[in-house]
Amino acid sequence: MKKKVLFVCLGNICRSPSGEAVLKEKLKTAGLDKGVYVDSAGTSSHHIGEPADLRMRNHALKRGYHLTSTARQIQTEDFEQFDFIIAMDNSNYQNLLNKAISPEQKKKISMMTDFSKNYNGDVPDPYFGGSAGFDNVLDIIEDSVDGLIKELINNFLSL
Ligand code: 4NP
Repeated sequence: MKKKVLFVCLGNICRSPSGEAVLKEKLKTAGLDKGVYVDSAGTSSHHIGEPADLRMRNHALKRGYHLTSTARQIQTEDFEQFDFIIAMDNSNYQNLLNKAISPEQKKKISMMTDFSKNYNGDVPDPYFGGSAGFDNVLDIIEDSVDGLIKELINNFLSL
């Protein structure tokens, strides 16, 4: 059975699509992409149906990540279907904890930087800021995804 990872932010147009693309790319490089299903969603309904933010797409592309997601909102089935539900900031985290309906579902929820070696706390929302914010998002996500892949390998996957 594939392990299933869902990244969650507010709009599903900047941070969580980046998490999705970075994890997919790094799994591919490690030859592990067949073992993991990766998706992303937003807590808000605001951007449903939209492609990822152009600024985020361009910053990601410079590092070799293609953001191809279409924004969607998290739904109740996601809490059953996914094994890891990973929030980009504390506000998303609290929102997800409120939506989960059982201890088993709550246990699936973590913060992105829980997997990071060099960062903790929020992946800051880049939407209303400048270019540096988008690079900061990618720096934190790359570091966190490296830790997440280690955890996946140690617990669920074999090389
Ligand atoms: P995201 O970024 O949660 O990383 O997708 C945002 C996108 C849109 C808005 C806020 C954050 N917004 O307020 O419209």
